[in-house]
Amino acid sequence: MPTHTATAPGAYALEVLEVIAETPDAVSIVFAAPPDAQADFAYKPGQFLTLRVPAGTDTDAVSRCYSLSSAPSIDEHLKVTVKRTAGGRASNWLCDNARAGMVLESLRPAGTFTMRDTTAVPVFVAAGSGITPIMSMIRTVLPESTQDAVLVYANRDRDSVIFDAELAALQSEHGRRLTVLHWIEAESGLPTADGLRALLPADSTATAAYLCGPAAFMDVAAAALCGIGLAREDIHREIFVSLTTDAFAAAPEPAAVPADPDAVSATVEIDGNTHQICWPKSQILLDVLLGLGIDAPYVCREGNCGGCSYTLRAGEVTMQVNDALDDHEISHGVRLACQSLPQSDQLSIAFDR
Ligand SMILES: Cc1cc2nc3c(=O)[nH]c(=O)nc-3n(C[C@H](O)[C@H](O)[C@H](O)COP(=O)(O)OP(=O)(O)OC[C@H]3O[C@@H](n4cnc5c(N)ncnc54)[C@H](O)[C@@H]3O)c2cc1C
Ligand code: FES
Repeated sequence: MPTHTATAPGAYALEVLEVIAETPDAVSIVFAAPPDAQADFAYKPGQFLTLRVPAGTDTDAVSRCYSLSSAPSIDEHLKVTVKRTAGGRASNWLCDNARAGMVLESLRPAGTFTMRDTTAVPVFVAAGSGITPIMSMIRTVLPESTQDAVLVYANRDRDSVIFDAELAALQSEHGRRLTVLHWIEAESGLPTADGLRALLPADSTATAAYLCGPAAFMDVAAAALCGIGLAREDIHREIFVSLTTDAFAAAPEPAAVPADPDAVSATVEIDGNTHQICWPKSQILLDVLLGLGIDAPYVCREGNCGGCSYTLRAGEVTMQVNDALDDHEISHGVRLACQSLPQSDQLSIAFDR
């Protein structure tokens, strides 16, 4: 194993075991979890890794999230699948440079886009690289449940279909339990709500939907799914955006939180410990926790990734930005620590996700 030590706190050095050309503009990168930190790399289908793409001659290092396309209950190793974004820094670097034997820095798996209810009948809707978390879910759910699954998968053209052969193999293996419906833009134009609705089985019994792709695509897909009777809160989305912050930057040094007559009181459960904290009303929860030296999880710190999510058991908070949690998660008390300001005098919080 190549020697390499991750430079950032909370980061791990992952060895690239294999790079698989999936399509002309997408590769899968297979990593070995660090032998001494296997448990830190346990993940749920739908979660993502945050990779550090190294600095170039004229460019700084950047942090980017990539969903795991591997299935935790089936695959020994971690796999992400990266599709080139025109003009994009990290995706093109990874597609051009990732090689077996290389070592890349990564944060632990994170994210809230996971399958909540294994008894629900799922419909999956993906566009382009949005297939990656969906693939992990489909490969997990087929052997582990008796539910049928439907996948609607939109791509620019036939050559862009990632995992085409693997999906066909899954259909052979699981017979009629997996239905794959392709939408090819070169043949049918841009997806529309009516078009997607017509594609979905008329007798669909789906009770939960998992969507991943560009925002505009997910909007028409959600409209199509509402059209076949799914409730909004049963439609879960993952949004792919580029982080603008450095997820590998050192956490702020713990510093005494100034006494604030307006501070509220909160109980915080994390990693099996319970802390009683004073939370100034003007300060973001994550900043308060890190300031107190409490090792709270986070990735983007901008409300995009869900890497800092917690469950609010009592009290009220407001979130400044929320581009990560859907209505279902909000209704179940999930909140983002990097965006939370307190609204009650007493709160109870658990990092249990
Ligand atoms: C939770 C999560 C999971 C994800 N999973 C995956 C996955 O499985 N597979 C995958 O391929 N992607 C995934 N992504 C997306 C991925 O993180 C990156 O956003 C994507 O690879 C593009 O990054 P990039 O550095 O190549 O592009 P960027 O450099 O971020 O550029 C993105 C676009 O902006 C343009 N741009 C950049 N800078 C400027 C500028 N200054 N002015 C104007 N335009 C500009 C670029 O030309 C490009 O079109 C995921 C994202 C998230 C949040
Ligand atoms: S750290 Fe990404 S949403 Fe809070």
